[in-house]
Amino acid sequence: IGHFLSDGDAGRGAYPHYMLKEIYEQPETLANAMRGRLTEADSTAHFGGLNLSAQQLRQIDRVVMTACGTSYHAAMVGEYLFEELARLPVEVEYASELRYRNPPMDRNTVVLALTQSGETADTLAALRESKRMGHTTLAICNAVGSSIAREADGGVYLHAGAEIGVASTKAFTSQVAVLTMLALYLGRTRHLSSTQGQRIIDDLHALPEAVRQALRCHDHVKRVAAKYAHAKNVLYLGRQYLYPVALEGALKLKEISYIHAEGYPAAEMKHGPIALVDPNTPSVFLVPRGSVFDKVMSNMQEIKARGGPVIAIASAGDREVAAVADDVIAIPDVPEYLQPIVTAIPLQLLAYEVALLCGCDVDKPRNLAKSVTVE
Ligand code: G6P
Repeated sequence: IGHFLSDGDAGRGAYPHYMLKEIYEQPETLANAMRGRLTEADSTAHFGGLNLSAQQLRQIDRVVMTACGTSYHAAMVGEYLFEELARLPVEVEYASELRYRNPPMDRNTVVLALTQSGETADTLAALRESKRMGHTTLAICNAVGSSIAREADGGVYLHAGAEIGVASTKAFTSQVAVLTMLALYLGRTRHLSSTQGQRIIDDLHALPEAVRQALRCHDHVKRVAAKYAHAKNVLYLGRQYLYPVALEGALKLKEISYIHAEGYPAAEMKHGPIALVDPNTPSVFLVPRGSVFDKVMSNMQEIKARGGPVIAIASAGDREVAAVADDVIAIPDVPEYLQPIVTAIPLQLLAYEVALLCGCDVDKPRNLAKSVTVE
């Protein structure tokens, strides 16, 4: 990172901030994460560095994912992906908690660490403790040759290029893409047919273009940001695959604009956060078409009924959403399991634009470090 910054920030190119550059790189970084890894011949994914035989991978019967910050939110999406596509039980643990716990884990549990930098102290400690206990450890990492990449038994690189902005953006979407490919791979050794595998591959191939389309919301997001930048509290609400994205959207906003934001499972908000709702507290709803669409719509109506402004991230042209929400940011349609990647885009842009309006240094927010190498 030091080396990168010493060239006078030239690495930003025409972009005013690294964060914006990294947001815009995502169609490319997602393509890089997938390059050479999806094979039509056997309708599955392949990874060069897992260092596990097909037999060993077949024996895995539980996965514990561990991470911090944004990487933790990617892991939470991974839980939904592995359950649906690979039918594998997953637990997601903050690395700082896992390292001091002593959870019972059997031999066939694999510990998967997610980390952009590969240097986060708690994640490294959790990985070492798992190794010491004799578990197979894997890592999903961006920084090549980093401590965690070297110490894990095997792993997958993101190939997203250096991420300089302290608030993680492109690493998040690439982590989720890699988790999707891992779920495909594990699913194909279990119950997924080649036809189902091929469909997932086709969906993944279409993903960079969907993200490119999602980025077109930027001008609109700017206007929405101007309307809500004065807020003191913002709620982010989503369900199922989009619950972790709600957490990530809230994290992005608080990290770089210092506005208090809370992510919640949309239906759970009636058990607490709804008490915060008033005309000055906007709620960002993740509500593209999908299996829980009607349920999220009714959660949205509950907020409207209490006078809370609603910003909806919704499928392009959705009139039902437009009839209820104050502002609608449109995203292209993708299968539900890929919605976390596409819906993350407007949330990254929203945080960025609000932070600019608040006069914050988006690339170097106060009190935060790009990689936290202390406990
Ligand atoms: C810091 C960064 C976050 C990042 C987290 C985990 O808090 O500011 O953006 O998500 O560390 O970092 P890692 O490199 O392990 O993904």
